[in-house]
Amino acid sequence: MRISDTSDLWWKTAVIYCLDVQTFMDWNDDGMGDFAGLAERIDYLSELGVTCLWLMPFHPTTDRDDGYDITDYYGVDPRLGSAGEFVELVRTARDRGMRVIIDLVVNHTSDRHPWFRAARRSKASPYRDFYVWRADRPPDSHKDVTFPDRESSIWEYDEKTEEWYLHRFYRTQPDLNITNPRVRDEIVKAMGFWLELGISGFRVDAVPFVIETTGVDQQELDRFRDPHGYLRHLRSFVGRRTGDGILLGEVNLPHQDQKAFFGGKDGDELTMQFDFIGMQNLYLSLAREDARPLARALRRRPAISAESQWATFVRNHDELTLDKLSDEERAEVFAAFGPQPEMQLYGRGLRRRLPTMLDGDPRRIRMVYSLMFSLPGTPVLLYGEEIGMGENLAIDGRLAVRTPMQWTAGRNGGFSRAAPSRLVRPVVEGSFGPEHVNVAAQRGDPDSLLAFMSLLIRRYRESPELGWADLRVLDQPHRHVLATECAWDDRRIVAVHNLSAVACTVPTTLDGCDTTYQLIDLLEDRDPVEIDGRGRIDVPLEGYGYRWLRLTPRDGRRLA
Ligand code: NOJ
Repeated sequence: MRISDTSDLWWKTAVIYCLDVQTFMDWNDDGMGDFAGLAERIDYLSELGVTCLWLMPFHPTTDRDDGYDITDYYGVDPRLGSAGEFVELVRTARDRGMRVIIDLVVNHTSDRHPWFRAARRSKASPYRDFYVWRADRPPDSHKDVTFPDRESSIWEYDEKTEEWYLHRFYRTQPDLNITNPRVRDEIVKAMGFWLELGISGFRVDAVPFVIETTGVDQQELDRFRDPHGYLRHLRSFVGRRTGDGILLGEVNLPHQDQKAFFGGKDGDELTMQFDFIGMQNLYLSLAREDARPLARALRRRPAISAESQWATFVRNHDELTLDKLSDEERAEVFAAFGPQPEMQLYGRGLRRRLPTMLDGDPRRIRMVYSLMFSLPGTPVLLYGEEIGMGENLAIDGRLAVRTPMQWTAGRNGGFSRAAPSRLVRPVVEGSFGPEHVNVAAQRGDPDSLLAFMSLLIRRYRESPELGWADLRVLDQPHRHVLATECAWDDRRIVAVHNLSAVACTVPTTLDGCDTTYQLIDLLEDRDPVEIDGRGRIDVPLEGYGYRWLRLTPRDGRRLA
């Protein structure tokens, strides 16, 4: 294995940053972020160390689901800019060493998409079969809805044609009929369009729903015998068109079921998948101050092919879903991090960001990010995490965590010069508002969270074993501690995290090591940790302490 492999398989050691153009930076003062504003902030992102931007949907939309309801797969929402500005953004990002991936939302369209309008106009329309219809009254499906606060069925009655159409999400998002080869062709065509404009792949929305076939008849099923074959097709298409483009899939399923979406041993379907199970168990561990749920989830995480990768995260733009925990476990996390009903959503998730859940405790917040970056996988940040932004619970539902980026302590947090009443969304208020949490103040402060996150990113990038290695959970006596080792070739890194406020010393043993090795601290300027003749070490940890230790021969040539 050579260091150049890390550039061929760039996604295995990338740092991904998710943002929504409309809430990031407003350059024309209309109250809504735009591509011109994002371009102005590219240098900030590259200085932070981000290597890949994930742009949430920016296409023309009816905005019933914050852009995840698209009316034109080939367009740019004119409120955000033009196709020309999109290309300029991609090009500027590339110059600063950043790739761009975009959301691919093809489970459904908006109900105002021309295809659906045509499909609704007449049963004889060639677009009728782009969607999934049924003539008889559907059975009760309230248990299958995704957004139980607004929907009680996955079928909606269409007055005009007197049939019901399928919608996994809101009723304004009719599901496309994936068994129709014309639909599949349209998806590939739209992907090809954006790839030609320079992007490096897609974050694929709701993958299991995209390839499922609920509600279709046998004849339709016969047109789509191998759903995973279609994912393979998409992956090889992206590969052919770009050489190194990726598919980062949203598949919130148990680990064992995720294997099939990677393409099993061949690894020829989704390039990456979010580790929802790891994330949920991380929160359970934090709530209990007990590392074992997370350690168990990591140990059970299935092995994947060398080209596949897990995407690790502690927050995304949706509700922080805890749906894969048991009811009792979820209740524990709710009690610890979101006890008020207005902090919870859909009975399964939280609508807070990490810093507010941890009462702004800087030691704990840093420990969690240190932990996330030290886990094998590719870290994904949601904009604003690097400065410790909170949420605005006065905003409806999942949008509470999608508030404007906080650039300065000034009006609108420096996001826009428009009147506050014209902003796309209100800024955060109170102790996590822009007066207290903003980029400008943190940029000049070496002790800021922003400086710490930049350090984590730099160390992560310098430690490709974190992206490439399999993880070993090291034996040690403390429940509240997670000690891990990632080894790849002769590169080894040991990470130790204390999930509780109680200081301790962590004894453990490193295989194959003796006094000819030493452990260099990568996050703080401390003396190396000594290793005895049998590979035994003792690592002191403060309450909520965290350490990354590079294992190196004393005469090693690697920069620490
Ligand atoms: C998952 C996205 O993350 C979410 O924001 C969206 O509402 C649904 N898919 C539907 O597109």
